Formats: sequence, C-alpha cells, structure tokens
Amino acid sequence: MLNSKNIIIGVTGGIAAYKIPLLVRLLKKAGAQVQVICTPAALQFVTAETLTVLSENPCITEFFQPETGAWNHHVNLGLWADALIIAPCGSNTIAKMTTGQCDNLLLTTYLSARCPVWIAPAMDLDMYQQAAVKDNLNTLQNRGVHIIPAETGELASGLLGEGRMAEPEKLFAALDDYFAPKPSHWNNKHILITAGPTFEAIDPVRFIGNHSTGQMGISIANALIDLGAKVTLVLGPSSLKPRKEVKLISVISAKSMLEACEIEFEHADGLIMSAAVADYRPDTPSPEKIKKSEPELTLKLVKNPDILHTLSHKKKSTQFTVGFALETEHPEKYAVEKLKRKNLDAVILNVVSENSGFKSNTNKITIFDKKNRIFESSVQSKDQIAVILLNTLNDWLF
Ligand code: C5P
Repeated sequence: MLNSKNIIIGVTGGIAAYKIPLLVRLLKKAGAQVQVICTPAALQFVTAETLTVLSENPCITEFFQPETGAWNHHVNLGLWADALIIAPCGSNTIAKMTTGQCDNLLLTTYLSARCPVWIAPAMDLDMYQQAAVKDNLNTLQNRGVHIIPAETGELASGLLGEGRMAEPEKLFAALDDYFAPKPSHWNNKHILITAGPTFEAIDPVRFIGNHSTGQMGISIANALIDLGAKVTLVLGPSSLKPRKEVKLISVISAKSMLEACEIEFEHADGLIMSAAVADYRPDTPSPEKIKKSEPELTLKLVKNPDILHTLSHKKKSTQFTVGFALETEHPEKYAVEKLKRKNLDAVILNVVSENSGFKSNTNKITIFDKKNRIFESSVQSKDQIAVILLNTLNDWLF
C-alpha cells in the first residue's frame, strides 16, 4: 500500500535512532520514496551517510545544503509528503511540536506539512511518565497526530519500563495500515447532502444571501460517489455543479430547501448539512420591484426554519445527521453546543480565515462527535478535506 508514496522520516536525538535505517529499508522495499530529515542531535546516534545510502536520497539536517548552498525548502518538503513520521521523537521535539516552535528543519517541515503525521515517542522511563510529556502527547493526539506509543522493555539507561521506541516493523505497519483500503460503510448508503447559500426574496429582483459557493458540499457529494454511495444533493443558488451521478435538486430559499430535505430524508441513511442557510427572511416579499422613492426602507425579517434541527429531532435510530458550524468566536464551545442542541451525530467546525471558509478553495476542519472524539485536519483542498471527513465519519458513525 506504500508503493509510490512519499514518506518523510524525521529523526530526533535518541538512542533508538540507530533502528531507523531498518525502517528506511522496509519502506523502500515497499516501493515508497523516502526523505530522511535528521535534527542535529539525531546525527550523534545515526549517520547521515547510512540514511542517505538506504533511502537513495540525501539525508538533510540544515536549511541550506553546505556543499551547494541550495535551500532545503521546508514548505516544498511538507507539500511533497504523503506521510510524515517522526521516530524516535524525543520529549524536546514533542514539546516544540505542541507549542509550534520551529528552530530546525524538521520542525518547520512539520508545521508546513499537510499530510498525516505519526510520532513514535522514545525516552527514558521517568521522562515518559512526566505530566508535561503526557499532556503534550494528548494535545498532539487531539490535533490529529497519530501517536505510536512507546513500549515496555529494557531502556538504554539500564532501567526497565515504558519508553522504548516501538520497533521499526510496528512503525512500518502503522503507515501501511493507514494507506490500506478500508472497508467502506458508505457503499450503497443513500446520503442526503445540502450545499450552497439560500436566497431570501425581498422583491422579484432582490434577495438576502451570503457568500457560500457550495464547493464543500459538492466535494463531499462527489467523494461519496467514489465511495459507492447513492447521493442526493439539495443545492441552493450556486454556479457549481456536482458530478452527473449525483441526484441534484436545485432550490432557492430556506423554505424550499426544507421542503426538499423533508421528502428526501425519509429514505436516506443520513444527512450531511453543509448549506449556509439564511437565518432570516423578509416577512412579506414585495410582489413588485420596490421603487427607490423613499429615503429609508425598513425590512421586517422573520426567522427561517432550522432544517438540520427539524430533521435531527425526528431521525430514526438508523439515520445519522451531521452539521457544519462556522464560528468567529469561541469556536469549539459553540460547535459542541450545536452538536447537542441540534441532536447531531457529529459537527464539523470550520473557522473563517484566509485559507478556509466560504470563498477559499482550501479548508481546515475540526470534527467533534457525540462520543467526545475530536479530529483536526490540516489546511487542504476542499476535495481532499471531503475525503478526510468521510474517512473519519466512516470510522465513527457506523
Ligand atoms: O445554527 P447554525 O446556523 O450555526 O448551524 C449551522 C448548521 O445548521 C449547518 O449545518 C447548517 O446547514 C444548518 N442550518 C439549517 N437551517 C438553518 C440554519 C442552519 O439547517 N436555518
């Protein structure tokens, strides 16, 4: 499963670094391209030459190559990688990853990486038991870093206990499992997706709307087709279109979106509601175009039905509902409140920023589920975010 995958192995200073050449060999044998990045301290435990020869790629440590002066561009490295594994990962690197410090090439690459990240902690007995280390590992895990726990055994200090790096075969298996095709629960499921804005008429030519493009929901609908699902997309006014295999129902307003969803949800296995539904609509839209004769115009707005809330409170035990939350303040708190109030199985938080939210082609999400699980993605294309989201829901919902 690792054939043709681009893997970065980060090596930090620890005695277990002497086992990393074996991991490089296993990955190379499986057909992966391997780039090793050592911290300066790692080179006291393993040689760059060994790692270079085995990986068939110069092992790098510095931002600039001493011989040629060429820049080892951490952003390019981060984008190149399909996976980053840091092994052994000592407490110093764990702490710096937690706080976002980047005083070496490995840490800058970690911060730039958009791929999944694994760490294999390794340290001496008492260090591994420190509350600070445990807290940092928890934080990283909550941010989506995969932790390959240290094992119990004889340690370099002569002490016996927990702290040994998991063996290279185990590290290899963690990566191999991740890329192995998973049984998809989406196959043959009928999923209802909503996407896009809603337009609420003021008069025949004007409306209240928002900047949603519908891209995120369309990416989810398309990705579900790849996973063998039957998909109905209820789409508000959008210039984008899903793949032809998706059953498309175009709507304009929140009321028409609710009507379509009520019918479609009846025979769906689940609903993923990514539409940016207008919360309010003009109470009585004017049947004729409003003239600009008056110096002021007051619109009376009334609340729209909450589609997700309505459907979630009448779902059958076999159906699931998932919503989106877009928050500008206290995002986690409000997202979890929404999960409970709207009776959801999971909620996906996206924060409005330069590279996430409405108009961006990329997104960054955090998924919370009703069993208090949390998954945080890195910034990725919306198509890629859809795949990550569906993989996580595949593990959590069924
Ligand atoms: O309450 P809030 O609008 O923040 O909730 C967002 C979630 O609820 C999204 O999944 C959105 O599609 C859905 N929603 C809805 N009907 C509304 C407003 C939001 O279904 N009137």
